[in-house]
Amino acid sequence: MESANIVILTGAGISAESGLATFRGDDGLWEGHRVEDVATPEAYRRDPALVHQFYDARRARLAEVEPNPAHLALARLEAAWSGEFLLVTQNVDNLHERAGSRQLIHMHGQNTQGWCLACDDRFPWDGPMGEGACCPLCRTQGRVRPDIVWFGEMPYKMDAIEDALRNCDLFVSIGTSGAVYPAAGFVQTARYCGARTLEINLEPSLGSYLFSESWTGKASVEVPKWVKEILGG
Ligand code: APR
Repeated sequence: MESANIVILTGAGISAESGLATFRGDDGLWEGHRVEDVATPEAYRRDPALVHQFYDARRARLAEVEPNPAHLALARLEAAWSGEFLLVTQNVDNLHERAGSRQLIHMHGQNTQGWCLACDDRFPWDGPMGEGACCPLCRTQGRVRPDIVWFGEMPYKMDAIEDALRNCDLFVSIGTSGAVYPAAGFVQTARYCGARTLEINLEPSLGSYLFSESWTGKASVEVPKWVKEILGG
């Protein structure tokens, strides 16, 4: 296994123990909001102030949280791994990079980046954005939005992700409910192309039956355990 190619997919569950809320809680709401009120281009057009308020609060929260043992274990694995390694996250937080991960794709964007709809550039963004934000590159005001892939928009770097999935020997999904496509379909691509597949989640996800192996438990416990095992103790 030592030189095998690995693709790892993470979701909100890996950041839960750092103190960031997941999306699909028991009440079906996301921090008190319906997803369609804060995570669609239509919502942004209808009520940009609400959408900015929501993402500004989540961005501010990042200063209060730290990567947990699961993020750190994945960075450790990447540093030690001799085969190809790709970490694909659906999360828009910055905990993977803060833990030291480098081969990382944020397929749903990043809340620590702005995207100017006037000049189409993207740039790091710290602090509140709000409706009147000014683009640091073209200086246009009021056209900067969080660089986040909302429902109905195309996830980033799908070509690179598909290539990696087709070439991997092991696909591991961590802390995701398997409710949102295309990420929920990655296990099928990897499996079809011959990879071993492992799910690590607090509870069986919607697509659990598609994995060759499932570990049930907290990411902060199970992921370091798995990394230790794969690195040979
Ligand atoms: N350890 C492991 N898994 C956990 C933990 C934990 N400590 N806490 C929660 N989980 C699991 C939950 O059981 C659930 O299956 O993580 C999963 C989180 O699922 P969601 O909240 O649906 O998050 P995610 O799968 O990342 O959502 C996908 O939906 O709204 C969109 O774009 C958004 O990227 C997001 C996408």
